[in-house]
Amino acid sequence: MLFINWNRIGTHLVISVAQCVLSALVHIVWFLDIRIGVLHKPASCRPSQFLCLRSSKEPRRRIHLDIYEPSSLDKSQKPFPVHINFHGSAFVLPCHGSDAELCAYLCSRLGCIVVDADYAKGPKYPYPAALDDALDVLSFVASQPHRFDLTKVTIGGFSAGANIAILAALRSANGPLPVKSIVAWYPPTNMTRRGSEERELSPFLRWLYQAFRSSYLPEGIDRRDPRVSPLFADSKLFPSTTLIVGENDKLLIDSVELANKLTADGVDCVLYTIPGATHAWERFVKKDTALWVARDEALRLTETRLREVYCN
Ligand SMILES: *[C@@H]1O[C@H](CO)[C@@H](O)[C@H](O)[C@H]1NC(C)=O
Repeated sequence: MLFINWNRIGTHLVISVAQCVLSALVHIVWFLDIRIGVLHKPASCRPSQFLCLRSSKEPRRRIHLDIYEPSSLDKSQKPFPVHINFHGSAFVLPCHGSDAELCAYLCSRLGCIVVDADYAKGPKYPYPAALDDALDVLSFVASQPHRFDLTKVTIGGFSAGANIAILAALRSANGPLPVKSIVAWYPPTNMTRRGSEERELSPFLRWLYQAFRSSYLPEGIDRRDPRVSPLFADSKLFPSTTLIVGENDKLLIDSVELANKLTADGVDCVLYTIPGATHAWERFVKKDTALWVARDEALRLTETRLREVYCN
């Protein structure tokens, strides 16, 4: 008997329409230069190069990269340290470019090249497509030793992007290009949480949360797999790790549990928690508030932790 899962088709349809609308909105907001989600604004936050890689797993899929290079970049100079960033997306939202200000900031403060990488999203490209893309980006970096200092590769991201950054770093640990440091802003680390325990969420938000998660991780994928949930990975695979998360974030526990485990296992791990902050808190801070100060401190911590790698 033909079985049609209307619920699943409906969910995918709603998410696909939302992706198109959001993608259009994001481009309008950028085109009109409306400042939503402010980070410290440097003189210029335009990438110096746009690149498009071909996915090694699905040749039709493209991976967009925005590359930020220090203005002092002298082609005759030795290779530069490189930081790879993955934006937040709840694993489905097309927001590549939303970290432009952070990328430009790190690039100018640290004199490193920042590769702001896009990645495949559900429901069209479920797990492991996003991780495959992240590994392709690492291979791209590894293929250009004259440009990137392969002893100084760091990785980071926001929310879903931070989860992907951690997973990619873990996969790189025993390979030719081990990532030296992770800076993860409010990552989900334990994907076995399904949101049904979030009683304070409204029914719509709970539905949305579950729809996003299930379009990235369809049934049949083991959520306890350490290649899905970094919380279950071997601590020995982690380089120095920094976790930045608001104390009112639903994902606080994901960072706290990971930090406790890494610290107990002797990994260099810094957990920075921000009182009164929720998910994606640093995007919405107002000038001269406690959160504004906290955001500056979080940015400085990010900078310090990356500098520890670049200056060694
Ligand atoms: C992960 O999430 C599950 C489901 O909420 C929870 O039972 C478990 O304690 C969490 N942490 C670990 C380390 O399994």
